Amino acid sequence: MLLHSASQLLTIAGAPQRGSDLGHLGIIPDGAMLIRDGMIQAVGTTTELRIAYPNEDSLDAAGHVVLPGFVDPHTHLLWVGDRASEFEMRLEGKTYLEILAAGGGILSTVRLTRQASLEQLLDETRPRLREMLAHGTTTAEAKTGYGLQTETELRMLQALVLLDAEGPIDIVPTFLGAHAIPPEYKNNPDGYTDLLCSEMLPTIHGWWDKHVPDRPLPFVDVFCETGAFSMEQSRRILVAAQALGFPLKIHADEFDNLGGASLAAELGATSADHLVKTSLSDIASLAASNTVAVALPCTPFGLAEHDYTPARAILEADGLLALATDLNPGTAWGGNMQFAIALACRYMRLTPAQAIVAATLNAAAAIKRTDTIGSLEPGKQADLLILNVADYRHLGYRFGTNLVQTVIKRGVVKKLNSL
Ligand code: NIG
Ligand code: FE
Repeated sequence: MLLHSASQLLTIAGAPQRGSDLGHLGIIPDGAMLIRDGMIQAVGTTTELRIAYPNEDSLDAAGHVVLPGFVDPHTHLLWVGDRASEFEMRLEGKTYLEILAAGGGILSTVRLTRQASLEQLLDETRPRLREMLAHGTTTAEAKTGYGLQTETELRMLQALVLLDAEGPIDIVPTFLGAHAIPPEYKNNPDGYTDLLCSEMLPTIHGWWDKHVPDRPLPFVDVFCETGAFSMEQSRRILVAAQALGFPLKIHADEFDNLGGASLAAELGATSADHLVKTSLSDIASLAASNTVAVALPCTPFGLAEHDYTPARAILEADGLLALATDLNPGTAWGGNMQFAIALACRYMRLTPAQAIVAATLNAAAAIKRTDTIGSLEPGKQADLLILNVADYRHLGYRFGTNLVQTVIKRGVVKKLNSL
């Protein structure tokens, strides 16, 4: 199939973009692309490709922007129930960490998720995946972490593997058994840390080897924060995971600056996420590493907090920056990357071009998938979007509306009004 007549085809070709290099869109005016067997075969101008491939079926982008599908590298998209009552409590003055310390927050979703069957988990999650696809996300990372006991964590991992296989979007799984201290270990967080290191991580590894041996191991993530896991506990868990061969991620500095970003850099983690309260010295160590800084602007927005990730400082230090939604029932129930881009432009002072690269190619780097997704280059998966606008800067500029007209997932065309 020959997709042609894009006003601007954003290839975002090349390596992930660091520091002041962020924002190179590789724009082809009047762009075209040849797609075969779900893969990108050639990219060029409409004239070039029409001459080279005269007999293809064609799809007219009709003077609209074409760009890679969004990659959302940080979500908690698998859960049951909701926390509308906590939203109201927060508006009345309670903080997120106070609600967690009182046994609510993550722990209230844990209670519901532990009771849910696999089918229920799948049923509540599928509509969220369809909505993400409709807003242009073609690959998402997704975490466990609402089980906090081996059996439920395994059920969540199994659900993620099943949802990846059934589609409509590719799912890159992360084991987040270290999301909170479960009620059984309320007074013994070190005991839960021991359980994670000596039982849960090896069990997850064994399950993976048995059921999906041909797929890369999931990431292992830790919520390193006051009221969750200390630096020392986080280090123990991540070091144990690394020894088993798992790639690493960390939730760091969402509310407090404990130093998680430097720990991520030291251990060679794939990403360090949130980074709202990160100190300049932690930013410097992160920027001197290959760990991707993942900003989640929907989270401070969702919590009505004032501080956002200091993206300018990260870029000035030459860091590698990506954007994600953090979709979850507590802090940010929203899986729309276009909205994350709109917030990043305003509160992190990114330009639309910078935010788009952070939401595609750099986001693919944050989940180690730049070999297959994140840009429109021959040899990559044909995951792309046709917008309903002619100028890419409308991403960021506009919000509260969906600018995606057509999603193409592995070469299959999905018109928005049929999703
Ligand atoms: O990234 N902070 C930890 N985890 C999520 C929130 C999950 C929840 O509240 O259910 C986050 O914001
Ligand atoms: Fe998160």
